[in-house]
Amino acid sequence: MAERVVRVNASKSYDVIISKGSINKAGEYIKKVFPSLKNAVIVSDDNVFPLYGEAVKKTLNENEIRALEFVVPHGEKSKDITVLSQLLEFLAENKVDKKSVLLALGGGVIGDLTGFAASCYLRGIEFVQIPTTLLAAVDSSVGGKTAVNLKAGKNLAGAFWQPSLVICDPETFNTLSPSELANGISESVKYGIICDRQLYEDIETNGFTEIEKKIERCVSIKRDIVESDEFDKGKRKLLNLGHTFGHAIEKCSNFEIQHGAAVAIGMTAAAKVSEKLNLSEEKPHDRIKSLLEKLNLPTECPYSYEELYEAALSDKKVESDKISLILIRKIGDSFIYNVSIKELKDIFYIAFGG
Ligand SMILES: NC(=O)c1ccc[n+]([C@@H]2O[C@H](COP(=O)([O-])OP(=O)(O)OC[C@H]3O[C@@H](n4cnc5c(N)ncnc54)[C@H](O)[C@@H]3O)[C@@H](O)[C@H]2O)c1
Ligand SMILES: [Zn+2]
Repeated sequence: MAERVVRVNASKSYDVIISKGSINKAGEYIKKVFPSLKNAVIVSDDNVFPLYGEAVKKTLNENEIRALEFVVPHGEKSKDITVLSQLLEFLAENKVDKKSVLLALGGGVIGDLTGFAASCYLRGIEFVQIPTTLLAAVDSSVGGKTAVNLKAGKNLAGAFWQPSLVICDPETFNTLSPSELANGISESVKYGIICDRQLYEDIETNGFTEIEKKIERCVSIKRDIVESDEFDKGKRKLLNLGHTFGHAIEKCSNFEIQHGAAVAIGMTAAAKVSEKLNLSEEKPHDRIKSLLEKLNLPTECPYSYEELYEAALSDKKVESDKISLILIRKIGDSFIYNVSIKELKDIFYIAFGG
């Protein structure tokens, strides 16, 4: 299968390589970017490392790169300040220097944690993303947002720090559970709703087939948005479609509801709000809800609008008394809609109160 490469030109320029079997050639790809690299640190979780750790170590070895390993428990709870501090102490104890590279082998949790560690260890070292979930492939591994969660909410401590390379091997998705796969499909549908009606209709007609082509499309959309607004001042906020609601849902569920699933509920809510406020040119709600359900994603949650609103108030996107919501004009055309905290309560009522 041909290798697909998406070039990202942000504050750092790097390639996103999408190719079956690429994980077995990770050492080669990394060596092309860092010809004199001697030491790397693989950061992974206890699901992913047993599956793919040896393959990565082997290819690094073949390319004369020595690798240390730091493996954390799987799940959102590892995107945590204590785990971050353990990782930083591990790097320091092992005298990892500026010439070394961190390798994030795993899903979005590992990517966000490793990226944040890379951004602040020795005031910044390079890192490579090896996404092993579809969600990380289409979204979190590209664009340089890194973070850990704080008690008050998701992603409240983080940095913009671009990777130097992204190696995406779609064969690693064969070991994902159907619900993990659905999480990634949710973020892919998101790109369709934001700005690519053709992608949306393709998923609607054919399901999530031709995965590599779709990953390339999603990554290209994210690349274009990140290149025009790397630091989230304007257009990049569009990528938060469904996320203000979604983060609140994740928080209320104590992270039992996974990110992609929460975003699916959030996108359905955004469609409902867009309709009820008469801001949409077509009625997107039923169509979006039915596609997400067809894709085995949830579109409703058991929490009251008050609970969700309280959870949303601690979201980082609350800037003074304004919050940027993403609403849907029509499928393929979403827009930023600023509301006050007070109006937000009414919006949560519209979305979840009725
Ligand atoms: N930085 C960004 O721009 C950005 C964008 C979107 C999401 N995110 C973040 O990403 C996180 C969600 O990412 P995720 O859904 O990848 O979660 P995750 O990293 O927790 O992975 C999901 C689960 O799948 C397991 N897993 C990973 N790869 C596997 C494989 N190939 N085979 C079998 N099991 C595997 C993991 O161990 C984990 O249990 C959230 O914290 C979210 O906030 C960040
Ligand atoms: Zn997301």
